[in-house]
Amino acid sequence: MNGRTSPRPAAAEPVPTVDEHGARVQRMFSSIAHGYDRANRWMSLGTDRAWRRRAVAGLLPPGTGPAPKVLDLCAGTLDSTLEIARSHPQATVVAGDFSARMLDEGRKKLSPDDLRRIETVPMDAHAIPLDDGWADAVFCAFGVRNLSDLPRALSEIRRVLRPGGMLTILEFFRPESWISRTVHGLYNRTILPLLGWAATGKLDPYLYLPRSIGAFSRVDEMLDLLRAADLEPAERTPLSLEVAWIVRARRPEVDA
Ligand SMILES: C[S@@+](CC[C@H](N)C(=O)[O-])C[C@H]1O[C@@H](n2cnc3c(N)ncnc32)[C@H](O)[C@@H]1O
Repeated sequence: MNGRTSPRPAAAEPVPTVDEHGARVQRMFSSIAHGYDRANRWMSLGTDRAWRRRAVAGLLPPGTGPAPKVLDLCAGTLDSTLEIARSHPQATVVAGDFSARMLDEGRKKLSPDDLRRIETVPMDAHAIPLDDGWADAVFCAFGVRNLSDLPRALSEIRRVLRPGGMLTILEFFRPESWISRTVHGLYNRTILPLLGWAATGKLDPYLYLPRSIGAFSRVDEMLDLLRAADLEPAERTPLSLEVAWIVRARRPEVDA
């Protein structure tokens, strides 16, 4: 693949993580890879598909050429990757995740045609094995909340984006209003862990999910982090009564 640096051999050994939190998250996702898609469908009542479609539809920045390059970071089982490849048929897509097992589960869903356009690369978001300026767009769905060092990962994302390139984040942020906090909190602490456990046979990852949302930034704090990484916020769109958000930011055309 053009412009790529030293790919790691697929799934040979665990991708090194930056710290123990990363290693725990990596083990956790690998342990639920087999039931991850089922859990997502049940927990979101299928709305995660509509969220992904909407986030993916606007992922290319204006002025992108006819053969865009897209990195789907924290790609998991490739639901967003597939949406990107199918809605942008000229795009080359690299799907990166530090859980080789999640990527392997996703590869089962790829057709021979998908396999020609999508490359899965085990990688840690804090050390992305792509050249500077390789990507027209970076997409990250439900990934940034899990990262050990978000400022460091944002600086990596900025490095691999071309000037003018765009980052799209689809994420659950800490709810702002007390109404959303109460309603989301109730659902996330009761029904969600039960559905997650029924779909995967594991409870801990689905207790971690609401904890990680509660401990994460509010959407306005995320915008501050983006600015601090020299990425210019371009959009913040609430989805399904602020259950999830699309946040977009661009690498400036000219470095500060
Ligand atoms: C909640 S899943 C989201 C997967 C997919 N994007 C989706 O929307 O279904 C989070 C994914 O992020 C990956 N991940 C978490 N921290 C990571 C890191 N530091 N580097 C690479 N991948 C990471 C996990 O392995 C997991 O597959």
